[in-house]
Parts: sequence; C-alpha cells; structure tokens
Amino acid sequence: MAKLTWYGHAAFLLETGQYKILFDPFITGNPAAPVKAEQLQATHILVSHGHGDHLGDTVAIAKRTQATVIGPFELAEGYCASKGCKIHPMHIGGSYAFPFGRVKLTIAHHGSGDEIDGKMLYLGNPCGFVVNVEGKNVYHAGDTGLFMDMQLIGQMHPLEVALLPIGDNFTMGPEDAAKAVEFLKPKTVVPMHYSTWDIIKQDPKSFASKVKGSKVVILEPGKSLEF
Ligand code: NI
Ligand code: MN
Repeated sequence: MAKLTWYGHAAFLLETGQYKILFDPFITGNPAAPVKAEQLQATHILVSHGHGDHLGDTVAIAKRTQATVIGPFELAEGYCASKGCKIHPMHIGGSYAFPFGRVKLTIAHHGSGDEIDGKMLYLGNPCGFVVNVEGKNVYHAGDTGLFMDMQLIGQMHPLEVALLPIGDNFTMGPEDAAKAVEFLKPKTVVPMHYSTWDIIKQDPKSFASKVKGSKVVILEPGKSLEF
C-alpha cells in the first residue's frame, strides 16, 4: 500500500515502503500547508520546475535529510547541486529506475525561470512526473496547460492516480483539467494548485462535476489517499 498526502498547492508526500518521496515541497509561505518544512522527512524530492511555489523548501529539506533531488537537468544540476544538494538530473522523456520505482519526466507547458537571490535564473524546461510505485503509476502534472499528448501518457502508463492543477490563470483551469482527465483516463484524479491565493481560487466540487469516467478525490491539506 502506498500513501499520498497533500500539503496544499502542488506539494505531496508519497510514501512507499521505507521511501518518502516529496513532490514540489513549497511549505514555507504556503498558506495551505498544514506542516512546517522542518517537520518533513524525505528520501527523494521531485521538483517539476524552478518557480518558487514548487522549488519551495527543496534545498533546505534536501540538505537536512540528505534526500536526493530529482528534476530537469538545469534545475537539478545547474541550481540545486550548486546549493549543496545531492541530485539526480533527468530530462523530458527520460526514465530511471530508482530504488522506490521508476520515474519518467513528461512535458509540461509552462515556464521555469525565476528570480533567485535577486537575479533572474534560467532553470530549463518545466516537467511533470510519472512515478511507478508498487506496480502502480502516479502522474504529477506539475504546472501545465492542457496538451493532447496527455493521451499518450495515459496509454503508455495506465494511471492509478493523476494529480492535476485546476487553478487556472497559471495552469489549466477546471474545464481544461476535466478534458485532461478524459485524455489521461486515471482511476482517480486529485485536484491541486488551486485556492492557495485568490488569483487561482476555484471550487474543486465544480471541477468534480465536470469529470467523467474517473473518481475525483478532493483532499484537504494534510489528508491522504492510499492506493
Ligand atoms: Ni509555475
Ligand atoms: Mn505554480
């Protein structure tokens, strides 16, 4: 049994066996986060892109826990390694078998550069992740707009769970995310990246009412889903 806990926004903890895999751990400054970054343990941290609401507390958590940071080359090698993190760089379309399971980087239509330490840094392409644990696939879309190739992701990696942004403005909104569910065909979809701030305020129940064919699980921050 694997366990997926939402910390608000795009931050999730996936627990499988002895492994704790954090996605986009934006905890400090995240008004929805039910925990403090200092409380989190991790063996691996998957970072989808370089925006502050995804890179978040990655460096601090990775250095404290010795977790390996996994993400696009420019972000992992170019930034996180220079800050003293243990890293494993990857890139779009590539997969690698980690001790907890295989991770594949998918495309995401978004940006990734950010102003860090007062300078605009180029941090490569953004990505999403398909993570295979215990024989089941979890798709974390990262920040992205809707794209047709989501059909391919669902075809090649039958999805147990899809974590999809529904906040609109910076990513897909509820209607596009409902179309993404049609393309991906996951057993379960969990909405994320909404209502953290007013600019991405959404009603997840209205998203749920648009979804056909998949189960929608609306998590509260701090709550978990087992699969
Ligand atoms: Ni972003
Ligand atoms: Mn974001």
